[in-house]
Amino acid sequence: GGMAFVYPDAIVSTAGHVDHGKTQTTYALSGVWVMRHSEEVKKAMTIKLGYTQVGIYDCGEEYYYSDGILQEGKCPGGGEPKLIRRVSLLDVPGHEVLVATMVSGAAVVDGALLVVDASQPAPQPQTAEHFAVLDIIGVRHMVVAQNKIDLVTREKALENYEQIRNFLKGTWAEKAKVVPISALHRVNIDVLATYIAKSVPRREAELGKPARFSVLRSFNVNPPGTPPEKLRGGVLGGTLLQGVLRVGDEIELRPGLKVDKPKPGYQPIYTKVLSIEYSGYKVEEARPGGLVGIMTGLDPALTKADALAGAVVGKPGTLPPVWTAVEIDTKPIPRAVGEKVEPLKQGEVVLVAVGPATVFGVVQSVKKDVVSVALKKAVCAEQGAKTVVIRQVKNRWIVTNYGVLKG
Ligand code: GTP
Ligand code: MG
Ligand code: MG
Repeated sequence: GGMAFVYPDAIVSTAGHVDHGKTQTTYALSGVWVMRHSEEVKKAMTIKLGYTQVGIYDCGEEYYYSDGILQEGKCPGGGEPKLIRRVSLLDVPGHEVLVATMVSGAAVVDGALLVVDASQPAPQPQTAEHFAVLDIIGVRHMVVAQNKIDLVTREKALENYEQIRNFLKGTWAEKAKVVPISALHRVNIDVLATYIAKSVPRREAELGKPARFSVLRSFNVNPPGTPPEKLRGGVLGGTLLQGVLRVGDEIELRPGLKVDKPKPGYQPIYTKVLSIEYSGYKVEEARPGGLVGIMTGLDPALTKADALAGAVVGKPGTLPPVWTAVEIDTKPIPRAVGEKVEPLKQGEVVLVAVGPATVFGVVQSVKKDVVSVALKKAVCAEQGAKTVVIRQVKNRWIVTNYGVLKG
């Protein structure tokens, strides 16, 4: 019973220079604090996405409302807000993780929310880098939040606005809306929500395509000491790239389990979808456009502590191949910071991000633009999949090359 669930119908990624207010803006829109930077993420470069779903509502005023600015779920006069749509906001921790996430296609991004600090000259280096990455991955819908206007005079804000307009001039984002806001003081969040709702197209669910699910997290949801008869199955958290998954579906998960016999390799895992949940809403069907939790028939020991993060799920027999060595046709990522990055060299340890997986590898050879890497852990990906090479430069992991998987 109850009201039909309205699916999130697009993924909007935040972008922008460090500390310009991506997380604060996500919070202002949604009312939910997504995961903050964690040491774990910085160390491992694991792609753990901070996702939140935002409802955007009509209260009969010029501008819409969003979850973060409704008062106790009501319109200002106490009226019932009319839900226009839900979008998923992606606020990943850290610059390089964001770049790797966007380029590797761990999530398919439909639009961008570029957050620019009005108190600094624009563009700052990461603002320019993120914009270049959005261009590379083919994002063509963007709203700019000109943030922290509480910190500047009107003149400064106008000057910064002109710098943003100049930066976007002649690009696909030339006509992007630039909305002055204060995320901290929740100023103009209604206008921002309105332009997000109107600028980012609804993802066609591509319901006819075979289901393809990126596993970004995996959990054991059972408290310690749960008796065996009460154990709930392993949970996969992630996003559907295409198609649908339904409760009761048989699924295959790749690369799967590492095995030594009959010969060393990976064995796909087969199981069943037992239930599907969008942050608290139980539904019968998962669709593209949001972060979803899928409870499976798997032994929860297999899914604990993100053990299956990076895997790909689909109907049995429909998944792409599994690779333990890859050739990548790469190009350097445009970098605004002007760091000189040496060419990749044989023997170098790198991280390779493809789809939801980020794995260590050792460079075997470099021939012109084609880099061969032996992987420490297998990945499941199509030939031609977008692939990112992440290198350690002076103790930092930075995204230096991107390209496609050749095989
Ligand atoms: P990284 O994830 O580190 O790249 O930063 P971020 O872009 O997510 O910035 P975050 O939201 O963490 O904000 C950075 C700092 O700016 C925090 O101290 C915020 O409180 C502050 N801040 C964010 N928005 C505003 C604003 O509208 N006004 C003011 N005065 N401060 C803000
Ligand atoms: Mg910060
Ligand atoms: Mg942040």
